[in-house]
Amino acid sequence: MKEQFCAVAIDGPSGAGKSTVARAVAARCGFIYVDTGAIYRTVGLAVRRAEKDPHDEAAVAALLPELDIRFDHGPDGIQRMFLNGEDVSGLIRSPEMSMYASAVSAIPAVRAFLLDMQRQTARTHKVVMDGRDIGTVVLPQAGLKIFLTASPEARARRRLLELNAKGDPSTFDQVLADMVQRDEQDSTRAAAPLKAAEDAVLVDTSDMTRDETVEHICALVRDRFGPEAGA
Ligand code: DC
Repeated sequence: MKEQFCAVAIDGPSGAGKSTVARAVAARCGFIYVDTGAIYRTVGLAVRRAEKDPHDEAAVAALLPELDIRFDHGPDGIQRMFLNGEDVSGLIRSPEMSMYASAVSAIPAVRAFLLDMQRQTARTHKVVMDGRDIGTVVLPQAGLKIFLTASPEARARRRLLELNAKGDPSTFDQVLADMVQRDEQDSTRAAAPLKAAEDAVLVDTSDMTRDETVEHICALVRDRFGPEAGA
């Protein structure tokens, strides 16, 4: 019999609002939120620190056995990432680490290395997990799959606000160009390209507020898992 996961898989391109929405849905439904992009970012940071080219498959694969990557969730529900025991949660959030993460995530050995960690979490917890291949590869038996998307411009505007709020001086044009480049890289790669699972519910947030999106997904969660979830 196929293993069933009491899980919500949220996939989609960067800047669609996955992490904000997934975190809010998890809090409302009593699930834990697993940010899988943060795990790829942590591998990216390790590759950067080792001064390796993130596109060099052999060099990155050779580094993996040396890496101790873990995550936990504090009482606030926030996921913290640890690389060889060091809390790197803040360090992985730069535009440079976005590019490193995108490059290393195209390497099959990296995806295989991280697969078990992600599945194991869903075996032991009720999860809302977001990423690019959660509904298609990591948790194909998730009870609810969402493909969350928005126009590139809407996504770039949101990402710019986040970056500027942190003091990063990026401009709209730079953020949009990075976004388009990352979309291209993430959806055309051979290993687990970004695409909606056949049974995913498509949610386009271009003209939706964060609260409307959360409400909409909580209603889907209640439909799928019963009225107590997402109330
Ligand atoms: O969601 P994010 O921006 O933190 O993700 C960083 C990169 O990691 C992104 O370019 C694609 C990749 N990624 C992936 O390939 N698979 C996932 N499940 C999550 C992220």
